Amino acid sequence: MAEDEILVVGGAGYIGSHMCKYLRRRGYRPITLDNLVCGHRAAVQWGPLIEGDIGDRAVLDRIFTGYDIKGVLHFAAYTSVPESVADPLKYYRNNVASTVCLLQAMVAHGVRPLIFSSSCATYGDAGGKALTETHPQQPATPYGRTKWMVEQMLDDFGAAYGIRAVSLRYFNAAGADPDGRIGEDHRPETHLIPIILQTALGQREFLSIYGEDYPTRDGTCVRDYIHVEDLAQAHHLALVRLLDGGAGGKYNLGNGDGFTVREVLDRARKITGETIPARIEARRPGDVPMLIGACEKAMSELGWRPEFCDIDAIIQTAWDWHRRHPDGFADRDKGGAAG
Ligand SMILES: NC(=O)c1ccc[n+]([C@@H]2O[C@H](COP(=O)([O-])OP(=O)(O)OC[C@H]3O[C@@H](n4cnc5c(N)ncnc54)[C@H](O)[C@@H]3O)[C@@H](O)[C@H]2O)c1
Repeated sequence: MAEDEILVVGGAGYIGSHMCKYLRRRGYRPITLDNLVCGHRAAVQWGPLIEGDIGDRAVLDRIFTGYDIKGVLHFAAYTSVPESVADPLKYYRNNVASTVCLLQAMVAHGVRPLIFSSSCATYGDAGGKALTETHPQQPATPYGRTKWMVEQMLDDFGAAYGIRAVSLRYFNAAGADPDGRIGEDHRPETHLIPIILQTALGQREFLSIYGEDYPTRDGTCVRDYIHVEDLAQAHHLALVRLLDGGAGGKYNLGNGDGFTVREVLDRARKITGETIPARIEARRPGDVPMLIGACEKAMSELGWRPEFCDIDAIIQTAWDWHRRHPDGFADRDKGGAAG
């Protein structure tokens, strides 16, 4: 029997490439569309890579006519919160306007199931409580607003054109492929765990800790870290539901538990055996003290069972990747597309 072909836009990126590996294992054929602005050619190992932009209708038409696409997983976006504040145009154009082009093409070609990478950045301040999906949507940054706008667009496109969408609101994606073939390689890197591990490798002089006077147990910010493989599992469950004709929805994806920056640093020091120097710096604008997701809805409605609930396991898989690939995909990217 032919494998179901799934279009993965942004499949050369961190989460998208792990998704492709997961899909392949489950018997699908992931077709990656990525403009490689942030992604890596060498991360695409489980299906073809089409180099192109989701804002390019011609390339989308070629894909939807050339492949038998059953559903779309949408990871393609710019992802830096501070950059979105400095250059909102870039974010609205790519994350929102280009998504309109993708949705238009899906409608035109009669492809309805879509899973969208949303974010906890769509929520307003929770005042230290775990966020449920019903918490008000009051994004504090242009990045968060782009995600919330797309979620709203998906509701409208559902009502008018029959698009069936699941929006998955990730907390902090972390960790790497347990087999060590792919991992996190953002340039520049803005996420805490890879920055800590790059410091452990001596690639950075020290870790900057932004603020130690937050109302948290040790004064540093608390975040909810969720393993990239567990994100992939949730996407797969949502995809199966949509392919079986089920309804869309909006779900938090996190571990429901938070760790302070200092706690993550301490765990990483134990796992790596390195000192990992750190310096306290001023607070950054836009950082909230605590972001933790209540994720029972994804568990009860999608049957999601995260496997990497332990922060040590998350850091360990990331460390295995960073230690073996200190330059990330840099060398292999030059060698041409795999798979
Ligand atoms: N990493 C996290 O912690 C996190 C948290 C919440 C939400 N998200 C969302 O998850 C998604 C994936 O995040 P990531 O960390 O893997 O990011 P990433 O930058 O590693 O991956 C995004 C991929 O999309 C591609 N891309 C961007 N714009 C494109 C376009 N117009 N056309 C084609 N390809 C395009 C990039 O080249 C890149 O390969 C993003 O939508 C992000 O907003 C990530």
